[in-house]
Amino acid sequence: MKIKTNQIVVFSGAGMSAESGISTFRDSGGLWEQYKIEEVATPEAWRKNPSLVQQFYNFRRKQILECKPNKGHLMIAQLERRFPVTVITQNIDDLHERAGSKHVLHLHGNIRLSKSSGPNSDRNYFPIEGWELTMEDRCPEGYILRPHVVWFGEEVPMLSKAAEMVSKADILIVVGTSLNVYPAAGLIHYTKSDARKYIIDPNVHEFSLPSGFTSIQAGAEEGLQQLLKEL
Ligand code: APR
Repeated sequence: MKIKTNQIVVFSGAGMSAESGISTFRDSGGLWEQYKIEEVATPEAWRKNPSLVQQFYNFRRKQILECKPNKGHLMIAQLERRFPVTVITQNIDDLHERAGSKHVLHLHGNIRLSKSSGPNSDRNYFPIEGWELTMEDRCPEGYILRPHVVWFGEEVPMLSKAAEMVSKADILIVVGTSLNVYPAAGLIHYTKSDARKYIIDPNVHEFSLPSGFTSIQAGAEEGLQQLLKEL
C-alpha cells in the first residue's frame, strides 16, 4: 500500500510578496503600469540600453532588501516541519528563503544573483553584494554582469524540473499569481489526477481554472491561515 507522503508544492507569484510591500505586476499601480516591459525586461532592452535595465533591477533589488518576509512566507516555511515542501516561485525576490523555506526553485531567476551577459550565461551565477550591480561589474570572461532574471522571450531553464515536481505533488497550493505568463502558468496542468489543488488570490473569482481547484478568495496571509488549518 502506497504510503501517502503528502508532498506539497507551493507555486507562488508576485501577490505572495504584496503584503511585504513589493508591488505586483498587473494589479492597478503595478510595475507594468510604471515601466514598459520592452524597455526593461527583454534581451532587446538590454542590447538597446543596458544601463536602464541595470537601473530598473537595482531599484527593485534595493526595494526587496528593504522589505521583510510576511506571515504568508513564514507559514509556508513552517509547513516544512509537518510535510515535505517545495516552493516553485515566479518571484525574483528571496523572501521565501529569508522566511526559512529550504527548497525554493526560482522559475524566473533570483535578483540577488547576477550572471554573464555573454554566451552560456546560465552556467554560473554570482551573488550580488548589496543592492547595486554597476556596468563595470564583469564576469571572469570579461562580459558585463546582468541580473539573473529570465526576461520575456528567454528560455525558462528550470521549467522541466518544476513540471516534474508538480507532477509528483500530492497537494498543490497556488498563491498570488494571475496565471498570465507562460510557460510558468501551464504548470498547474501537470498535477496527477488525485492531487488536491488550492488557489489563493483576492481576485480568484475572475480566474477561469481547470476543474478540481478549491478557490480561496483572500490575500496570501489570510488565505494560507485558512488553508493550513485544513491540512
Ligand atoms: N495576496 C495574494 N495574492 C495577491 C495579493 C495578496 N495580498 N495582492 C494581489 N494578489 C494577486 C493578484 O490578484 C494577481 O492575481 O497576485 C497576482 C499578481 O499577478 P501578477 O502581477 O500578474 O504577477 P505574477 O502572476 O507573479 O506574474 C508572473 O509575469 O511579469 C512577469 O516575470 C514576471 O514572474 C512574473 C510573471
